[in-house]
Amino acid sequence: MQRDHWTSRFGFIMATAGSAVGLGNIWKFPYMAGAHGGGAFLLLYLVCVLGFGLSLVIAELIMGRMTRRNPVGAYRKIAGGAWPAVGALGVCTVVIILSFYCVVAGWTIAYLVYAIDGTLAPARAGGLDALFDSLIGSGIMPLVYAFIFVVATILIVSRGIGGGIERASKLFMPLLIALLVVLAVRALTLPGAVDGLRFFLTPDFAALDGATASAALGQAFFSLSLGIGGLMTYGSYMTAGQHVGRDALAVVLLDTGIAILAGLMIIPAMFAAGMTPAEGGPGTTFKVLPAVFASLPGGHWIAVGFFALLVLAALTSSISMLEPVVAYLVDERRMSRTTAAWSAGILCMVLAVPVSLSFGAWQDITVFGLTLFGLFDTFASNLSMPFGGLMVALVVGWILGPRAIAAIGPEGRTVGRWAGGWLFIVRFIAPIGIAWILIQGLI
Ligand code: PHE
Repeated sequence: MQRDHWTSRFGFIMATAGSAVGLGNIWKFPYMAGAHGGGAFLLLYLVCVLGFGLSLVIAELIMGRMTRRNPVGAYRKIAGGAWPAVGALGVCTVVIILSFYCVVAGWTIAYLVYAIDGTLAPARAGGLDALFDSLIGSGIMPLVYAFIFVVATILIVSRGIGGGIERASKLFMPLLIALLVVLAVRALTLPGAVDGLRFFLTPDFAALDGATASAALGQAFFSLSLGIGGLMTYGSYMTAGQHVGRDALAVVLLDTGIAILAGLMIIPAMFAAGMTPAEGGPGTTFKVLPAVFASLPGGHWIAVGFFALLVLAALTSSISMLEPVVAYLVDERRMSRTTAAWSAGILCMVLAVPVSLSFGAWQDITVFGLTLFGLFDTFASNLSMPFGGLMVALVVGWILGPRAIAAIGPEGRTVGRWAGGWLFIVRFIAPIGIAWILIQGLI
């Protein structure tokens, strides 16, 4: 069977950036930065992304393109032995991620509805916290929205890559960036916002500790969709003529730029709203943004546009979570694409039920002091994804070694001398950095 591939380089970049850019940038990054000291978090985040995140994105894409396999198959083909288990862990991890991602995406759909039907407008008067709390506490409605989101993901993934995934991303990504710039400028000019800017951009060196490093590392991996086989799967659809290094750079810069823009939009808005950054939590974006919309002329339409774009951004990410699972079930278990997409999607919906309740009726049930959402998020972002990245570094750096350099550029062309530096990072800097931070996180 002919394997799918991207129809153009631009399409690949848009789809892969579509995977990277999502709720991780706009919903999670700002509240994580708020909870972990602002500037200190931003600094460590940038160190992780630029220090080794980019190099590992290249490495994971290479594993996919070389083998043209799903994550389990890719590990088997390159490394054999027990290594396919690492691919399987990635496949399980994306199921866990999607089961909480869809809940947050569901809130985004709910807010799109609120923006359209005018519910958001009266909430300006200080009722924003109450509006959010009543949504997440209401049991059924958040699940209905989460299920709508998963079904949309299933339908797109069943149709295969190329058509759906590529086309959607090309259109909305530029729109999203434009809107974020407008909102960031507005948020920064709200009364009191300057303190937020200072908090976000000046590192407080006292906050540079193991916990911040662990949070920043987890956020970097989550935002880059790194370490769970999603990039490997997208890499497996790359064509021989593509330059992995150059395309990965474009994706990483887009992802990081959009996270910073979101920080510039949300954190000043938090300060303007009188919220302490450390206490924002997962509701932050939903609680502070409507006030920014309300302060703009045509705010009603901006709110509609913003939440619509955010739902789309979440969709191009969730597609990249389901895709590795489907690729695995199709390649290794001989399922049809449609059956695979529905089976994996339904499993995520089942898991989403307790996750959603952990924000409402079950919020007092905790394990290690974490709600179920916290547990899933911490396991995925702070443990499984960095561990997967560490394994990619070992396989590409040590098993493939110098052979990997030949796989970066378009087939038959050598790349510049920087590739030696890249291999050095993959062999030494990334494993040592990740292992050190993983240990910090555990203690
Ligand atoms: N990177 C995505 C985001 O920032 C989330 C994601 C994680 C996507 C893992 C795919 C795999 O929203």
